[in-house]
Amino acid sequence: MKLVVDLKERSYPIILERGCTEHLGDYLDVNRKSFVISDEGVPEVWKQRILSQLNDAVFMVVEQGEDAKSFEVYQKCLKEMLKHNFHRKDQVIALGGGVVGDLSGFVAASYMRGIDFIQIPTTTLSQIDSSIGGKVAINVDHVKNCVGAFWQPKLVLIDPDTLSTLPKRHVVSGLIEALKAGCIQDEELFRIFEEEEIEENLEEILVRSLKIKKHVVEEDETEQGLRKILNYGHTIGHAIESCEMPKYYHGEAVGLGMLMICENEEIRQRILNCLIKLGAPVDYQLNANQLIKYLVKDKKASNVSTSIITVSKIGEAKIETRTFEQMHELLKRRESE
Ligand SMILES: NC(=O)c1ccc[n+]([C@@H]2O[C@H](COP(=O)([O-])OP(=O)(O)OC[C@H]3O[C@@H](n4cnc5c(N)ncnc54)[C@H](O)[C@@H]3O)[C@@H](O)[C@H]2O)c1
Repeated sequence: MKLVVDLKERSYPIILERGCTEHLGDYLDVNRKSFVISDEGVPEVWKQRILSQLNDAVFMVVEQGEDAKSFEVYQKCLKEMLKHNFHRKDQVIALGGGVVGDLSGFVAASYMRGIDFIQIPTTTLSQIDSSIGGKVAINVDHVKNCVGAFWQPKLVLIDPDTLSTLPKRHVVSGLIEALKAGCIQDEELFRIFEEEEIEENLEEILVRSLKIKKHVVEEDETEQGLRKILNYGHTIGHAIESCEMPKYYHGEAVGLGMLMICENEEIRQRILNCLIKLGAPVDYQLNANQLIKYLVKDKKASNVSTSIITVSKIGEAKIETRTFEQMHELLKRRESE
């Protein structure tokens, strides 16, 4: 299946096809000089598959996990590219999950003021969400994604076969972003989580999630308005992720964030049931005073308030503003529940 993210001169195709990574030449120029970034946790089978088809590639393997989205690793990538004489006409290829995608994208966005970038996502989270939309970033002092850019890829190549090696906990973490997509835009997607066998519907879940992300990014590429709805559960989720690093995976923290922010009891219970069905963590003893320190540093915050997303009907989201005082009160309430 092919979808096109329509962003005028920055438009690009998303190819979603089992086995598509076996014939790269059908989708990209295998003779072009490429800087391929992956991490230690991506299985050799996928690395070899990609490298064996590229005729002029330099390969960089970074450490696995959120720590790879750091200034140190970012700088290492840039220095390696410089050492191997990469120029503006060359390209960066990200092979891995959201960490590799975000890091590689920021490398591509900044090297020589920006070079082409291709995403080959290999986790559920990156195939469902992070590989499209052009948000690329690294973390500073455990503050998530606070240095980055909007830099759209030229191509996103999604091969669901690569998920065959992904540990269950990571599969679930990614699916929580799809559950979020259902909450904000797609009642039918949410119904699949509530009523169907999730594994059997994986491709349907991928496609529905990608369509939502594509639509929202096309409407609002740089998050001036509508795109904020994709942050449902993220304001508190990012704070939990940063505060507890490395205890929770990104999607797990978003799941907890959705539970904390949702003030409609019926919807909260339905989200909770889906998270339990997925086997995601749902018990979190929060510390309101600690979390609020991270909320203040969130990109969506101003000096006195932050924007949050609320869902009072599945499939429909609203963007609202809360002062830090209101957020602190909400967190205090959740702390004592
Ligand atoms: N840019 C965006 O729009 C956006 C959106 C959502 C999340 N994110 C970011 O994505 C990151 C999380 O991404 P993630 O959940 O993919 O985590 P990840 O990139 O850390 O990948 C998870 C783990 O799986 C391993 N792995 C990758 N592919 C594998 C495979 N096929 N088989 C076995 N192991 C494999 C990796 O080595 C890693 O250890 C966070 O940093 C988050 O901030 C970005």
